[in-house]
Amino acid sequence: MKYLIANWKMNLGIKESVELSKKISGEIESDKIKTIVLCPSFASLAEVSEVIKKSSLKLGAQDIFWVNKGAFTGEVGAPELKEIGVEFVIVGHSERRHIVGETDEVIAKKMKLAADFGLRPILCVGETGDERENEQAEKRVAEQLDLGLQLLDNAQISKILIAYEPVWAIGTGKACSPDDALSMFVLIKKVLQEKFSENNIPILYGGSTDDKNIASYIEAGYAGALVGGSSLKPLTFLKMKEAIE
Ligand code: PGA
Repeated sequence: MKYLIANWKMNLGIKESVELSKKISGEIESDKIKTIVLCPSFASLAEVSEVIKKSSLKLGAQDIFWVNKGAFTGEVGAPELKEIGVEFVIVGHSERRHIVGETDEVIAKKMKLAADFGLRPILCVGETGDERENEQAEKRVAEQLDLGLQLLDNAQISKILIAYEPVWAIGTGKACSPDDALSMFVLIKKVLQEKFSENNIPILYGGSTDDKNIASYIEAGYAGALVGGSSLKPLTFLKMKEAIE
């Protein structure tokens, strides 16, 4: 199975999200080998869910809280997300790690809660530009995997996805070279195999992907992409879908 996950971030209002999901769902036919997931903002989830419910598109959230219910002002819990029709959830995106200050420990709790509620969490990992320059990239990604997955049992591990998103490549137009992406793919596979005896977890690439470069990541072994900027352009996004055979 290949995956294309559209991360719309905080770029669209509700009307714009509905329009974009209509455009995409109108062009997507049911496809048994590709899963296409739209991740609008929390505020747009319910309306986008209505638009795509008769299509093969799946719904994802951009974040989740680590407790399911209660006095947590401003947070959104797993039961509510499930009620809306969410199946996937992005956890530990670099913008949450670096702008909001989420730690690996918080991310581990979010992974656990999402998995406990039968959602499919997508754990984002990736080094900063400084970490890459200082040859710490692999060490940091291995650590993020270790810590982020520490609370999951083996059955839960088998349901997750990993997205390798080098921080310096996100939204910059500087995508990771296919060679560097391949080395990181090999490392992630090795960690998952050694720690969890898991060989089938989909590993996605993210960071300045478009219809021109996505095929090179698939060639390197990635099972698809987590897409930011290009997912806001329906033509580009649909071409990316065609490119992930
Ligand atoms: P980008 O974002 O494709 O705009 O680089 C990717 C992401 O943040 O998931």
